[in-house]
Amino acid sequence: MFEKKVLVTGAGRGIGRAIALLASRAGYGILAHYNKSEDAARTLEAEIHSGGGDIELIQFNIADRAECTQKLDRLTEDHGALWGVVCNAGINADNTFPALSDEDWDSVLHTNLDGFFNVLHPLVMPMARKKRGRIITIASVSGIIGNRGQVNYSASKAGIIGASKALAVELASRSITVNCIAPGIIETDMSASAPLEHILPSIPMGRIGQPEEVAALAVFLLSDQASYITRQVISVNGGIV
Ligand code: NAI
Repeated sequence: MFEKKVLVTGAGRGIGRAIALLASRAGYGILAHYNKSEDAARTLEAEIHSGGGDIELIQFNIADRAECTQKLDRLTEDHGALWGVVCNAGINADNTFPALSDEDWDSVLHTNLDGFFNVLHPLVMPMARKKRGRIITIASVSGIIGNRGQVNYSASKAGIIGASKALAVELASRSITVNCIAPGIIETDMSASAPLEHILPSIPMGRIGQPEEVAALAVFLLSDQASYITRQVISVNGGIV
């Protein structure tokens, strides 16, 4: 029971919460990461426990390399090599390029792109030794086509796409798949202030997506059935090209 453990970063809310819930229903033991939103993480914990699932909470800042190394080495000592890692946590700080501050650039790159290294570097070798596993990163349509007002965010997500593809090549011989999900606009706190009246006409399906629609793909990519899918970027975006 719950032999396969999956770490989901940023699981307290939004897309991460939906992934944690659906992965729990699929039978994975959930290691639910949060940074500041302990109350939301506790609510998730109660919901998963009430459904008969297995969950443990873990707190750290993905932009803090030393803290990630310390907490994740400990996680591996406690649980052994993980089955899956879903690198979901991320931030945006949107502004047109001339108005982007040093802080807007640095915080988004440190969190989103350095976060890839900080979270995965301590976890990959134990997984490679075990010769099995799934790594999923959450990028964005913004990292593929580039979005106005998101030069920092697009750079971080494009970086995640390149890093994920390269890591997929390195880990392929160990039967570890690495895939990237690129959501379009999904209804979460992050997109709450997005100017939907300007965005909706560019979405062929004419609506924004739900976190569960991203989670469904993540849980499929975690599964045994997805064993021959690696180095891919898969969009969940209502038809944006
Ligand atoms: P959200 O703002 O609801 O959730 C983001 C999560 O990341 C939160 O749980 C937050 O605590 C965590 N987080 C942020 N900074 C952190 C840090 N330094 N250390 C640890 N945790 C941190 O946003 P949402 O929409 O659920 O985003 C999840 C992922 O999906 C992000 O990577 C985001 O860039 C991506 N995404 C979201 C889209 C959307 O329209 N909502 C579209 C495309 C990608």
